[in-house]
Amino acid sequence: MSGDARHWFSGDGMVHEVCFADGGVTYRNRLVRTPWTVDPTLPKVSPEGDPDLTRSLANTSVLHFSGSIYALEENSLPYRLGPQLDTLGPWDMGGRLRTPMTAHPKLCPVTGELHFFGYAASMPYLTYHVADADGVLRHSAPITVSGPTMIHDMGLSGNYVVLLDLPVVMTRMTRRQPSFAWSDTYGARLGILPRGGSDADTRWFEIEPCYIFHVANCFEREGRDGPELVMDVVRFPELWRDGSSRFSPPSSMWRYVIGISSGNIQESALDDRSVEFPRIDDRLTGAPARWAYAVSTLDNPTSSIVRYDLLGGTAPVTHSLGPGHVHGEPVFVPSGLDSAEHDGWLVTLVYDATRDCSDVVVYAADALDEGPVAEVHLPRRVPYGFHGTFIAEPESAR
Ligand SMILES: [Fe+2]
Repeated sequence: MSGDARHWFSGDGMVHEVCFADGGVTYRNRLVRTPWTVDPTLPKVSPEGDPDLTRSLANTSVLHFSGSIYALEENSLPYRLGPQLDTLGPWDMGGRLRTPMTAHPKLCPVTGELHFFGYAASMPYLTYHVADADGVLRHSAPITVSGPTMIHDMGLSGNYVVLLDLPVVMTRMTRRQPSFAWSDTYGARLGILPRGGSDADTRWFEIEPCYIFHVANCFEREGRDGPELVMDVVRFPELWRDGSSRFSPPSSMWRYVIGISSGNIQESALDDRSVEFPRIDDRLTGAPARWAYAVSTLDNPTSSIVRYDLLGGTAPVTHSLGPGHVHGEPVFVPSGLDSAEHDGWLVTLVYDATRDCSDVVVYAADALDEGPVAEVHLPRRVPYGFHGTFIAEPESAR
């Protein structure tokens, strides 16, 4: 992100690229150029109340899909970027996409499909979409929820989609994005529908009120009472009761187990340390991934990387770089295209307060406690952002 935004969520998007190639590392950044780059005073919503989906902060995540790179932000269309990170423009899927796209679409590693949703201030408040591997929007289904809420992520398993209907509700529209606040009355539900399903297919399961920004993974397994859907998330017990400036009480790893046949749902804590930005090996999205990685204690000047054993139940492993070092999201990079789940690296940006600069830090995923295997000192600070992605680029593309 860049600029002087008042809130972590409202800065203009800047994409940072760290390229490991030919035994060296290069770095570049580019501002994502949207209408707000030219005129930041443009309102998001017209006087008639229609949102302009091309007015985007483009500041939340990066998607590599169907041969292109996109900058994402949940209140707008994706912005397509060129190979040098130059902005090519908003992408509405040939005019078919009429809602925003979440910054956390789920790319199925088996089919190449992109499952995603968009939420809105007016009805339909929530729409579920599927695009095929060629980027053609094949399915759009409005999903009935009782009001406009902030929906940041979703779950995707081999056969199902999980939608989050949680009590952080839209209160008003500011010039560039909505405002939200906690509601004691809205309720909290998970909506389960088959891939490619509709509103009529959606089964809702009530859960304890909470907020979930991020789903670590979602997968199916055979339980004692039949097939189950397991979804592991980072869960806030509540969020933004007294404004959106603080993310408290802390969030921690949490598990939902949904009985597909029984209709029962159970929820439980997996750990009690404060974490965010959970990631897995993206090649296992929707499958039973064993390992998840997250950042501990976002609001503390010292942070650590945490590795969770989601299937084996062994104790989490952590590593800190000491006071004054703040980790960003850990992105798993496999050592090869066909390597095993745990065979690879965690790549993250770390802010080093002693130098007022950022480092690219690389850990071996299976030896996190031994510390970094490589550090690249960048010549400047990379402002705190949100999410990144790994793109395996063929040599012929360079
Ligand atoms: Fe996110």
